[in-house]
Amino acid sequence: FSYPLPANEPVLNYAPGSKERENLKAALALLKGEKLDVPMYIGADEVRTSKKESLRPPHEHKFVLGQFSIGEKKHVQQAVDAAVGAKRSWEAMSWESRAGIFLKAADLIATKYRGQMNAATMLGQSKNAYQAEIDSACELIDFLRFNVHFLSEIYTQQPISGAGMHNRLEYRPLEGFVLAITPFNFTAIGGNLPTSAAMCGNVVVWKPAHTQIYSAQLFMRILKEAGLPDGVINLIYVDGPVVGEVCFNHREFAGVHFTGSTGVFNHMWETIGKNIPKYRSYPRIVGETGGKDFVMVHRSADPGVVATALLRGAFEFQGQKCSAASRAYIPSNIWKEVKKLLIEGVNSFKMGSVEDFSNFINAVIDERSFDKIKGYIDKAKRDSKASIVVGGTCDKKEGYFIQPTVIETKDPQYVTMCEEIFGPVLTVYVYPAGSFEKTLDLVDSTSPYALTGSIIATDRAAIETATKRLSNAAGNFYINDKPTGAVVGQQPFGGARASGTNDKAGSILNLYRWLSVRTVKETF
Ligand code: NAD
Ligand code: ALA
Repeated sequence: FSYPLPANEPVLNYAPGSKERENLKAALALLKGEKLDVPMYIGADEVRTSKKESLRPPHEHKFVLGQFSIGEKKHVQQAVDAAVGAKRSWEAMSWESRAGIFLKAADLIATKYRGQMNAATMLGQSKNAYQAEIDSACELIDFLRFNVHFLSEIYTQQPISGAGMHNRLEYRPLEGFVLAITPFNFTAIGGNLPTSAAMCGNVVVWKPAHTQIYSAQLFMRILKEAGLPDGVINLIYVDGPVVGEVCFNHREFAGVHFTGSTGVFNHMWETIGKNIPKYRSYPRIVGETGGKDFVMVHRSADPGVVATALLRGAFEFQGQKCSAASRAYIPSNIWKEVKKLLIEGVNSFKMGSVEDFSNFINAVIDERSFDKIKGYIDKAKRDSKASIVVGGTCDKKEGYFIQPTVIETKDPQYVTMCEEIFGPVLTVYVYPAGSFEKTLDLVDSTSPYALTGSIIATDRAAIETATKRLSNAAGNFYINDKPTGAVVGQQPFGGARASGTNDKAGSILNLYRWLSVRTVKETF
């Protein structure tokens, strides 16, 4: 069974008066009225506990969307047992049938649940309609369809056979269960991490960030409707360290598919390393982690192109994207013009609730994020090494709102040039004439991360120099564009250094990590 290369799911534009906008508004109203009591999904059971937490939109503290049950250690154990119990029949299911389930889920999102998926992402994670569409509709649908395609390609790859023999490769799932741990910021990543492993025949325990549960539980229900057998993916809401305590000590632990911060991933890696003798096999450790993504500008660049790349790259999704532009290196000859455009751009953004479709900026995810981001902005306000170019207002009375903020610094090693802030904050270092190559070295050495970055220039030699010199500074490198917006099947996504294992989500490379190959030689 071969599944041809699909086309990317078209992005709907939600223009005023359009049918899709009306549908989305209806879905928002429906979800706001639901007041769900969200269960964990363990095996065939919907599990609720007496310990509950409210689900509230980050942009509207006083509104309660519903509640979810917090699980404990025994629920992690139950989820592992359910996964291991489902393994034999899931592995035995034909690849065609497994693929059919994920293709049906993609179709259900595209045709039946698009409005609800987007509404859940808008309300739960505070994304505007267009951003939700890119994430919870298009990117998630693309992950499901493209991964079926990639896997069907893998299954056809076979070795040659000499005379008197037949060689073949069997693409087996891993022995044991896979743990998927997902971050708050992308519904599509939440969907991709458990399903890409499951598609290969693995069974999965899925632990999303608590701030992602509202969209995660809806996707889980869609998978069930598409025919996913009980126990293949088990969705639990348990604190990370408790999940780790059970899973990383378990003999059947076969691998972790993680997206989140570098510190959490490092801690997991150390724990897994210490526990190696406990496992049946060496676990697969796949992590997509933090970023400190750069935009490097050459003096030949058009100031308008630079400003657009920075405004979109840094502030879309409130900058809560691993790929978001957060440090820019701008030559002194065009800084005055770029600065003017940045100030105009930021002052033109409307900020507020996702339900007013004219708001470009919404809230950051939670109080911890708000306080962390505000801390960096406040520091820049106080420090002699930095100044606020535009923005800088933070207000958490009604929701976690942070105005897009541009900081200028004369110190290329200033703290906001080096550390991941994960919010709508861009720091600019203006470099003097004649120091393009020296500045490229700064770009490469300033931060431990290497996720995304761009060069903006019209001079071909400058593009060539930057592309070569920054070879290891980013896993996704963009020429004359913002460093965000990777599309499944077009720009496989991931970085190295402190940004992860660079196993490229949305590509064939990632799927190899969830397979264990047996070579079989038959002699005639
Ligand atoms: P986070 O690290 O706080 O949490 C990620 C997940 O890990 C959550 O489910 C969390 O509950 C869990 N977790 C936390 N501590 C744990 C522990 N000790 N054991 C097991 N699990 C634990 O990250 P976040 O705030 O949800 O997401 C933002 C981070 O994710 C940023 O650093 C961002 O750069 C990164 N990110 C990276 C990519 C990428 O592709 N490289 C994509 C999206 C987000
Ligand atoms: N796909 C997202 C981007 O590249 C993470 O911005």
